Amino acid sequence: DHNDAPVFRIVFIGPPGAGKGTQCRRLSERLSIPHLSTGEMLRATKDGSEVGELVASYIDGGRLAPDDLVMKILTRRLEKADCSSGYLLDGFPRNVQQARLMDDYLSSQDEQLTHVISLCVPQEILIERLARRAETEDRDDDTDETIRVRLEIFESQTRPVLDYYRQSGILTDVDGTGTMDEVSQRLLACVV
Ligand code: AP5
Repeated sequence: DHNDAPVFRIVFIGPPGAGKGTQCRRLSERLSIPHLSTGEMLRATKDGSEVGELVASYIDGGRLAPDDLVMKILTRRLEKADCSSGYLLDGFPRNVQQARLMDDYLSSQDEQLTHVISLCVPQEILIERLARRAETEDRDDDTDETIRVRLEIFESQTRPVLDYYRQSGILTDVDGTGTMDEVSQRLLACVV
């Protein structure tokens, strides 16, 4: 009976390179709930279509895609059956407007977020991690210039989201430095 299982609706917020994707993949397995990355959803629309080209212009420049587009893609995914027992949101909400739109959506479903995790990593480590990834993987937005823009947008648009949630008492700051296993341990300790 699924009704007795705790429901986790967890938001992960952190600058580029903080380890959101890495840690959400692990926690998703551990808690058996889907990992929803708006970045991955948006990258999947880069298919040469008109919408795809528009999205690519935002992502490749390191700027945020339009809120209404992101909400549309995300809510379509949230309506799938596997989200009924919870989910991990990786990289959303990215600005205060998205946080408000998500609250409206949740109220319309009579639901609430259970945790908001702020993954904290100093800038010099972020830059090191992303520069290393640029050497091995193929992310069009891991260039020096785009990394700089992404970090700036985190500070100006996403950091205010933390203040938005801080008042609600569901926000926890988690140290994202050290090994991936160390970070996973800290995260598990604060959700279960
Ligand atoms: P998104 O895909 O969300 O990327 P990001 O926020 O820039 O984050 P990254 O994927 O770079 O880093 P991460 O925190 O997931 O770290 P990771 O685990 O990969 O967004 C991309 C773009 O999409 C945005 O710029 C925007 O244009 C658009 N977008 C997305 N969401 C949007 C929204 N809601 N609204 C509007 N636009 C949106 O780790 C990074 C690297 O470090 C990896 O190589 C990893 O192996 C390594 N690493 C991880 N942990 C450790 C560790 N503990 N020690 C050493 N190395 C580590």
